[in-house]
Amino acid sequence: MNLNILVLPGDGIGTEVTREAVRVLQRVSEKYNHTLRLTDGLLGGIAIHKTGTPFPDETAKLAADADATLLGAVGLPEFDNAPPAQRPERGLLGIRKVLGVYANLRPVRTYKALIDSSPLKNERIEGTDMIIVRELTGGIYYGTPRGVEGSGDTERGTNTMTYTRAEIARIGRMAFHLARKRRKKVSSVDKSNVLETSQLWRKVMVEVSAEFPDVELEHVLVDNCAMQLVLNPTRFDVVVTENMFGDILSDEGAVLAGSIGMLPSASIGEQKPSGAWVGLYEPVHGSAPDIAGQNKANPLGAIGSVAAMLEYSFGLMEEATAVNNAIESVLNAGQVTADLKPKGTPLTTEQVGAAICAAI
Ligand code: NAI
Ligand code: MG
Repeated sequence: MNLNILVLPGDGIGTEVTREAVRVLQRVSEKYNHTLRLTDGLLGGIAIHKTGTPFPDETAKLAADADATLLGAVGLPEFDNAPPAQRPERGLLGIRKVLGVYANLRPVRTYKALIDSSPLKNERIEGTDMIIVRELTGGIYYGTPRGVEGSGDTERGTNTMTYTRAEIARIGRMAFHLARKRRKKVSSVDKSNVLETSQLWRKVMVEVSAEFPDVELEHVLVDNCAMQLVLNPTRFDVVVTENMFGDILSDEGAVLAGSIGMLPSASIGEQKPSGAWVGLYEPVHGSAPDIAGQNKANPLGAIGSVAAMLEYSFGLMEEATAVNNAIESVLNAGQVTADLKPKGTPLTTEQVGAAICAAI
């Protein structure tokens, strides 16, 4: 298979973890006979340095041409006081918008080797393996009317939650499509006892489920879901929800996995004629200026994002599993960076990348 991938290392530890993620891609391509075509692009603070803007036109063009994009992280402290439009993070909004990625996927799983570092009881979270599918381009973060008007006691803030049938159906199909390759269960999260948008959401999810008779659909109210995520996380396989609920629940889900350096993410758009799904893959963490340039960042979130890319953009399940198994085996062997508090000497970013490649 041809894998045409745009690589945007970004700033700070973004460049360090991306270097290892790319090595893993190279190792997988070599082992499974894929043709890897990597293109490098600029995004964030480094792009401001070189071109004057966090999201150069050239990067937008490269992203449109690629099958999938691998992103490190952006943000340089020197821009901390710059206005929002001139900050590195503006590049993130730009790339997400250009790619039209409407589904944000956060895999959440627990690893045996890390379970003792979780704030939750081992027996509750052991075996957790779910994906939270968050609608990313609609809902209350975008709806109009919005704004603050008036003054005094009648000064009023307004936001609007709105969804169309088409927006709900496409994120629903994404969730069912994913569940079909997993444990075949979709938990649709809404607040249909209160919100009209949720009533439409629920109705459309039921309609979409008819296209996937092999997948079970359950409805969960969002407040109950927040509780179930920590009380009984193993009951979930694919959780699908609207933008704001997903924003909140995915951060809650992140606690289950341990260190922020472990967490991958995927944002998916439409399917290309090549069969690949447009996708943007990045670790959840930022550019971590406090540890940048020290070769000690945990690259496993970035490497897990490579696994997600192989699975979701290219449908390469065996390859994705090989990467995920390698992550599990280096964790079990204690071959980890300082953030995971190993018993012996912590490995460097580079050494963890090498250990993953060796395990593959
Ligand atoms: P951060 O995620 O960069 O760091 C938070 C803490 O976690 C720091 O102590 C850091 O050392 C640690 N950490 C993060 N990733 C790690 C890794 N892979 N291995 C070991 N330790 C790790 O968040 P922070 O400090 O709030 O933001 C720093 C910059 O990154 C800011 O400019 C922010 O806007 C930007 N940012 C960018 C994101 C992105 O590119 N998607 C996401 C979040 C923040
Ligand atoms: Mg959030």
